[in-house]
Amino acid sequence: MNTQTIERSAFICVLGLAALGVASPARTANTQRVAAPPQATTEATTAAAATDRYTEAPTGFDNQTNGFLRQGPAYDTLNEDTVVARRSFNDNRFIFEEAETVDDGLGPTYNAQSCRECHQNVVTGGASQIAEHRTGRLDASGGFFESLGGSLIHSRATHPDIVERVAFEDDVRTFRISTNTLGLGFVECVSNDTLLAIRDAQPAAMRGTATTVPVLEANNAGRLGRFGWKNQHASLESFAADAYLNEMGITSPLFPEENTSSGRNVGMGTPFDRVADPEDDGVDVKAFADFMRSTKAPSRGPITADVTAGEAIFNRIGCAVCHTPGIKTARAGTKVNGGAFTVPTALGNKIIHPYSDFLGHDIGTSDGIPILPGPEFAATAKLMRTAPLWALRTRNRLMHDGLSFTKQEAIQRHTGQAEAVTQRYDALSDSDRTKLLAFLDSL
Ligand code: HEC
Ligand code: HEC
Repeated sequence: MNTQTIERSAFICVLGLAALGVASPARTANTQRVAAPPQATTEATTAAAATDRYTEAPTGFDNQTNGFLRQGPAYDTLNEDTVVARRSFNDNRFIFEEAETVDDGLGPTYNAQSCRECHQNVVTGGASQIAEHRTGRLDASGGFFESLGGSLIHSRATHPDIVERVAFEDDVRTFRISTNTLGLGFVECVSNDTLLAIRDAQPAAMRGTATTVPVLEANNAGRLGRFGWKNQHASLESFAADAYLNEMGITSPLFPEENTSSGRNVGMGTPFDRVADPEDDGVDVKAFADFMRSTKAPSRGPITADVTAGEAIFNRIGCAVCHTPGIKTARAGTKVNGGAFTVPTALGNKIIHPYSDFLGHDIGTSDGIPILPGPEFAATAKLMRTAPLWALRTRNRLMHDGLSFTKQEAIQRHTGQAEAVTQRYDALSDSDRTKLLAFLDSL
């Protein structure tokens, strides 16, 4: 029953890194570096047994806990004085919604004042139309060179003189639209093995790429990335700390240094920053992670006969090869995130329907920006994570750049590894295409 096995992890090319003396980048801010390259994970997992029982993960857009944390005091009774970080779903939701001010450490450069500003549709934690900008350029040998101060261009600042500008030469440019965070606690509890098994079952021409990234709260232990448009993070705590700094300008123990304004220091000691770092002692970051871990997975819309027929077409023509319909989470008690998180009962042994393999694919749409500069991440310039299609019906700006207005346009942008599937989509009869789209509208 309790056989311990080691969760294997795809180890992307770190060979030669040490020889080159290249410090491995670990933070999507691109402004801060850790000394050690990500290590292949030795995350221990309890092997699934044939007798294991799985149940469907709870779903709903209803601001209700999935059971990981209790619901807590009535939401509208909470305020800055009564909220207790990490106590309950409602407490953590309050912190996720809270607008930060300059006195809390907001900025100097930032994108928005609260997590909710970008993650709100149709309830707190969902997606939104807000897109962020990333830019950089290619050097003579075709290597990616990020804009001064990092590829993320902050759209706002606390002073008019320090709003970031894009340099003319930085002609690798993209938008990345805000994604859904509901149900991501379940995704965090999917073991590396499970993702690798999905990859290994894909036909060679469509096989996804698993990328190992560092888990910051586990001393940079390696784990398969699964969060963000590029699978740039493996844990919700790492992503939350990254977002707190890079979206809101709030430093925390995992991201202790302020961002620059296009390379210019605007942190403590300059007139632009008066809050000592780290501006958050790490508690807010944990509250954000716990909030996301306690959200339900997105629910489905009405399932009609057309929807059911459409799903069969989705499977038949190969969409489901990448947009994986069902995934099981690891058994409760399994240590994940490099040992920093133990799969709780509420999230373990669950079946989720994310319609994603959480792997990178080259479908010809990529924005050309790697997870981070440096040879070990160069291949990720061409890859995008299979967009999870759960909660698709809450979104009307599609693909990473939000520039596809309809599902048909999004599908027709799929080339490369999805070329054969797109051709099969194009060859569908009108009635089959209508059913397939009805299915997508039910997600
Ligand atoms: C200015 C808008 C904005 C704000 C504010 C913001 N986010 Fe995001 N968030 C985004 C965008 C855009 C992405 C996709 C970025 C990418 O992958 O490059 C994202 C992605 C994420 C993801 C990954 C979801 C997935 O699809 O795998 C998590 C987790 C997340 N954000 C958490 C947070 C938390 C926690 C906060 C508050 C500390 C926050 N975000 C604040 C815009 C925002
Ligand atoms: C080879 C893997 C692969 C196959 C096959 C594939 N997709 Fe995708 N799909 C992706 C990736 C990767 C993205 C994200 C691309 C981007 O944002 O640049 C995506 C994005 C999408 C989106 C946009 C979702 C959003 O949130 O913006 C839709 C809709 C979609 N796919 C539907 C389909 C349908 C329908 C099929 C079958 C006709 C299909 N896909 C086949 C990999 C695939």
